[in-house]
Amino acid sequence: DLRGQIGPITLSSYLFNASGPRCTTEQELIKLGRSRSAAVMTKSCTLAPRAGNAEPRYRALPLGAIQSMGLPNLGYQAYLEMLPRLKQVGKPVVISISGLSLADNTTMVSAFMASSADLLEINFSCPNIEGKPQLGYDLTQTRQALDTLCTLGDKPIGLKLPPYFDMAHFDAMADLLQQYPIAFVTCVNSVGNTLVIDPETETAMIRPKGGFGGLCGDYIKPIGLANVRAFRQRLPQRIDVIGVGGIKTGTDAFEYLLAGASAVQIATCYEEEGTSCFDRIERELGQLLQRKGYASIAQAKGQLKTL
Ligand code: DHB
Repeated sequence: DLRGQIGPITLSSYLFNASGPRCTTEQELIKLGRSRSAAVMTKSCTLAPRAGNAEPRYRALPLGAIQSMGLPNLGYQAYLEMLPRLKQVGKPVVISISGLSLADNTTMVSAFMASSADLLEINFSCPNIEGKPQLGYDLTQTRQALDTLCTLGDKPIGLKLPPYFDMAHFDAMADLLQQYPIAFVTCVNSVGNTLVIDPETETAMIRPKGGFGGLCGDYIKPIGLANVRAFRQRLPQRIDVIGVGGIKTGTDAFEYLLAGASAVQIATCYEEEGTSCFDRIERELGQLLQRKGYASIAQAKGQLKTL
């Protein structure tokens, strides 16, 4: 039994796409619907359509990628309008929402609460919009946002969190989150505002923000694992933890399972490989669990041993 779980929703597998790569247009989302991805997750939407930041804004690196896309998306009304067609593929649709203000998030969450979306993932951690700090690094703003957003409807909502790097920050955020009726947290977004330099050309790898951008892929797997583990240890069982960050093999997915993830999302590997990553990683995870004598996801979940 390789099924994943997000709140009240059982997934057909443990793996689906992360918000970010190849999930902006209806064509991309329908393709995800026909793949082995256990759900269809949309690119984070804003109130108005956005072209995103100047190019180059994504660079593949030896062990991952750096990106500062700047929220290119079709605007939330386009996703509302295509939802009935996305639902026809017969799997859960998760809408990622990334308003540039609490008022924008309120408008969009209200609209999707009245739609056929299955789950909402509210993005508190986009690092790439100049002048807009990551909400998840500000406890007061996070509380204010949740006070409003948790009253807008009954659909399960989750939060996409930035990575934290201090035990006091895990404690403070987990203590805050458990006061709200959220169904899941997704850990982690890219590690924000990193800088990768090409020493030959003496330039930054990407154009936006003078080269500062979100670090993705293998580089951030230990950070993702730590965040999943830390939140799983601190949050009540009613809140699922979804893992993301550097998953490109069945072994990577298994490590997130040991850390306590109820399901995992694939971003950089999906960008680089396309939809075949979902079948491949699912198969690899199945073989690994069988070899280790685990009969289900539930049996191995959170079973990390400490020394
Ligand atoms: C973008 C990047 C993120 O890490 C995120 O959470 C949302 C949007 C972007 O640059 O498009």
